[in-house]
Amino acid sequence: MLSQETIKIIKSTVPVLEQHGTTITTVFYKNMFEKHPELLNIFNHANQSQGRQQTALANTVYAAAANIDNLAAILPAVVQIAHKHKSLGIKEEHYPIVGYHLLGAIKEVLGDAATSEIIAAWGEAYGVIADAFISIEKDMYDQAKQTDGGWETFKDFIIADKVVESDVITSFYLKPADGQPLPSYKPGQYISVRLNIPGEEYTVNRQYSLSQAATGDLYRISVKREDEFIPNGKASIFLHNKTAIGDIVEVSVPAGDFHLDMDSNNPVTLISGGVGITPMMSMYDTIAKTNSDRHVAFLHSARSRKHQAFDSVLQKLNESLANSTYATLYSEEGDGFIDREFLAANVLDGSDIYVCGPTPFMQAVIQGLYELGMPKEKVHFEFFGPAVQLELVNA
Ligand SMILES: Cc1cc2nc3c(=O)[nH]c(=O)nc-3n(C[C@H](O)[C@H](O)[C@H](O)COP(=O)(O)OP(=O)(O)OC[C@H]3O[C@@H](n4cnc5c(N)ncnc54)[C@H](O)[C@@H]3O)c2cc1C
Ligand code: HEM
Repeated sequence: MLSQETIKIIKSTVPVLEQHGTTITTVFYKNMFEKHPELLNIFNHANQSQGRQQTALANTVYAAAANIDNLAAILPAVVQIAHKHKSLGIKEEHYPIVGYHLLGAIKEVLGDAATSEIIAAWGEAYGVIADAFISIEKDMYDQAKQTDGGWETFKDFIIADKVVESDVITSFYLKPADGQPLPSYKPGQYISVRLNIPGEEYTVNRQYSLSQAATGDLYRISVKREDEFIPNGKASIFLHNKTAIGDIVEVSVPAGDFHLDMDSNNPVTLISGGVGITPMMSMYDTIAKTNSDRHVAFLHSARSRKHQAFDSVLQKLNESLANSTYATLYSEEGDGFIDREFLAANVLDGSDIYVCGPTPFMQAVIQGLYELGMPKEKVHFEFFGPAVQLELVNA
């Protein structure tokens, strides 16, 4: 337990640290990677260079510190991060390294303003926050190991098939190299794929949502080729252009708290943009296989027909379901985007709503949903990168 004095120091210094938040975490990462280059095998360098990861970590440490006497208030955020950590094999022994370099960075950036009292208080607070993560993650690893066919961090999978789904999206069917049965997953969850890419000094880790209902013997992911911007995407281009059936990739156990509530019979609205369709495919397919009377609406936005994956599968699933609607809007073919009017007409009354797509898409859709009065606890969303703060107006 932290003393009242320590809590007072932490709470009074949060605003100062917040002000320097991103500078501190940038210094922190630089120093930590200099001392521990092996950690570059875990972190996503593209997220680092765009600053998204720095901001995510800074926001979380300060949110946790501001709630240090009531960490339960930020439990949902801790659980979401713990899932990401679990999918990357982050372990207890990593926490002191992060703690040491975070305190060092606070000292370096704040200079004399960071008195020994302040640093000691932050050291204690970090310990409390780290313990919360470590204990949740330990439970997750134990559970993963104890599940039939489960494993702890990464294991080898064979690319059993590669199927082109659209001009930009290809599916990869992954089977465990040891031939063991696969643990099930919740529809909406993702795996991390760890790649050894020739010419890359460090392993490349990326998350991919499982894009169909659990089958028991393989995991399917569907990957968009990221070649619109320079530099091209490392993992997606490697997977699309350089892998062949029979190749090995390393795969984590499924993780993630963005998933369908399978115990509920409540109506569901699935709303996706672009490759954000993948977790929705898993949810829709699962509903078709396990609860085909459930009321469900699948609303998708794609640039054009050639960009869209899974249209014919979706049409078939829609026909097989008793109470389903399915619609795709093609923005480059005159349909426009999913807007408030479309949402008002198509979101099912009282439904649980799941949203996934590029950040501007999420911004517009979630803003629209809130404006229509949808309760926040019913609106679930997933970012295909570190979570960012959405800029919502009057929400
Ligand atoms: C939970 C989750 C689920 C996901 N599910 C899916 C899925 O189902 N399907 C899917 O396709 N993706 C999914 N993603 C996204 C996926 O993990 C990868 O982020 C995506 O494939 C891009 O990875 P990449 O290595 O190809 O690109 P990266 O190399 O990571 O590059 C990504 C972008 O950053 C830019 N960039 C790279 N380096 C720099 C730099 N130095 N400066 C400026 N810009 C730079 C690139 O131009 C590119 O546009 C998911 C992500 C998460 C977190
Ligand atoms: C209390 C300490 C920690 C906090 C508050 C924290 C916070 C976060 C946050 C907010 C994210 C982004 C989650 C998202 O995807 O939205 C994240 C991701 C991540 N964290 Fe942590 N973390 C902590 C400790 C650690 C440790 C000890 C390690 C390992 C050395 C680590 C490695 C990672 C990695 C590799 C990612 C994914 C990054 C990426 O994709 O670039 N974290 N963490």
